[in-house]
Amino acid sequence: MITLKSAHEIELMRRAGKITAAARALAGEMVKPGVTTQEIDKAVFKFIKAQGAEPSFLNYGGYPASVCVSVNDEVIHGIPGKRVLREGDIVSVDVGAYIGGFHGDCAATFPCGKISAEAERLIDVTRQSFFEGIKLAREGQRLSDISAAVQQYVEDNGYSVVREYVGHGIGRKMHEAPEVPNFGAPGHGPRLLRGMTIAVEPMVNAGGAAVRVMPDGWTVKTQDGSLAAHYENTILITDGEPELLTALEI
Ligand code: MF3
Ligand code: CO
Repeated sequence: MITLKSAHEIELMRRAGKITAAARALAGEMVKPGVTTQEIDKAVFKFIKAQGAEPSFLNYGGYPASVCVSVNDEVIHGIPGKRVLREGDIVSVDVGAYIGGFHGDCAATFPCGKISAEAERLIDVTRQSFFEGIKLAREGQRLSDISAAVQQYVEDNGYSVVREYVGHGIGRKMHEAPEVPNFGAPGHGPRLLRGMTIAVEPMVNAGGAAVRVMPDGWTVKTQDGSLAAHYENTILITDGEPELLTALEI
């Protein structure tokens, strides 16, 4: 069942979303050569708690950290640890925060120092594919219109979208209906209505679309070892442009 959020619930989701966006920004600022992925996790945990919120990911299905940090050919769900970031890495950070009964969820890929032109293009295309997708995130459109727009933009740029993992509705639970794939034909799925809140999250591989899960049970890598990037925001469907709930206050 897709839940429509009331004005009050939307206000609560804005609060969760802002904290989540600030946590992503903090993590992004920490992406520098010499920093370990667990230092990023510790700082994000501390920040989220200091805001009076809870890290949505910690203990979710047994996940052991507050953020996912996925480096280079890691697509998503990288577990923070002793890995030291190096110049030229690309680092995807995914974070969620829970407060007032609602979740925010967002991600982005950050460059570690100077990166290759090709890695930079992958990051830019992935981010832009999100914005291409949400041009269709409007009342009256069908859900798969977003999916098709993301896929089209990614593939026009020579990259692949991951099929095994998808975006999702979000609210009182981190994962609610509907699923929001980053691929498929337009014109399918539920009609979008104001008050729907969804996390749109393209996962983009520079090479083939295939991925595999590592023996740690979480880390998802590209099968062919190519680089991957991720970009996600929690958005609200309105009677006009979608509102980004995981945006920083201006
Ligand atoms: N942000 C991820 C998503 O959108 C959730 C991370 S999985 C977790 O589904 F286990 F780390 F929480
Ligand atoms: Co998500």
